[in-house]
Amino acid sequence: MRLWIREMLDGQGRHISFHTPGHKRAGDDITELTYSDCLSSPKGILKAAEEDVAAILGAERSFLLTDGSTSGVFSMLYALRAAGIGSIACPCFSHPSVGHAAEVLGLKLVPIPQKVRYGIPRQPTAGEIAAALKQAGALLLTSPDYYGFLAPLKEARALCDGAGKPLLIDGAHGSHLHFTDSYAGRYADLWVDGVHKSLPAMTQGAVVSARGGMGELLRRGVLRFRTTSPSYPILASVEEAVKFPRRPAIESASEAFKLRHGCLKNDDWTKIVVPFGDRCAEAEASLEGQGVYPEFNDGNYLMFYLSPATKKAELGELSRLLPPLARGEVKENAPAGVIPMYSEEA
Ligand SMILES: Cc1ncc(COP(=O)(O)O)c(C=O)c1O
Repeated sequence: MRLWIREMLDGQGRHISFHTPGHKRAGDDITELTYSDCLSSPKGILKAAEEDVAAILGAERSFLLTDGSTSGVFSMLYALRAAGIGSIACPCFSHPSVGHAAEVLGLKLVPIPQKVRYGIPRQPTAGEIAAALKQAGALLLTSPDYYGFLAPLKEARALCDGAGKPLLIDGAHGSHLHFTDSYAGRYADLWVDGVHKSLPAMTQGAVVSARGGMGELLRRGVLRFRTTSPSYPILASVEEAVKFPRRPAIESASEAFKLRHGCLKNDDWTKIVVPFGDRCAEAEASLEGQGVYPEFNDGNYLMFYLSPATKKAELGELSRLLPPLARGEVKENAPAGVIPMYSEEA
């Protein structure tokens, strides 16, 4: 898309801006002009990009988002509502956008209780999902979660098929999995990819997708909850990130790192979770003092978020800095402030 934008702009020669955006710099940030595309009803480069992305992700329809997974969650829940579904089962530790969208759309949430083990809320079991699904018209899971654990996707798909209910997946942390069988899009009817979190896209770049005949309802949801002002720099970065090649070397380096440094045994190479217990803050301060910044400190664990753009040398540097740092005791209570819940306070 970026090349096309350049060609499109170069082809125009002189460009004096009497249009938005107000910075007037033109560059690639042009929004809607007579010679560019329209995000809400794309016919040119945006249509081509959305079709390419859908083909890569195995979707019937995919929509590029510049307002994060949050707008994807709202759009998915709109599609459910438009299909006449009034309730949805989802784990207690779902992202606040799930509760906010349900509130706005008048959807009832059926909470799936989650057990906390070693200070981490665990994915629900198939049995827990089955019990909640009996009382709801659809199911929403988050996979992988912030700690790199996958939901029981095969079992969830089978349960939804058995009950004739749609499966939605919040894949805010899983777009890098599209090469694999752990990818949300292999199981869900509707799913969101937080491309900016685990692939090299600009902040807020995301994709929401549909399979199994829900594409039109999702399009209507996207029309309601996505911006009408296309940000070409973000959109181009999302397209490029989805097309970014897999990097097996960094994936295996991450798994080797986890074994070597006593990290959590999770399912996701992009999330390295190191138990520091009550010495977390100390470890974080020491690392940051040396210019190394983790994704979060939940009071039990430091989490280091990788992507295919992570350099092996950077992982090597972390490997060198970790061993001298003292490890404390992990507390059993749920971490505060890292996994947001959909509760009223969220
Ligand atoms: C599980 C989950 N879903 C959705 C979101 C919302 O994503 P975004 O910030 O891209 O809107 C987040 C953000 O952290 C998240 O962790």
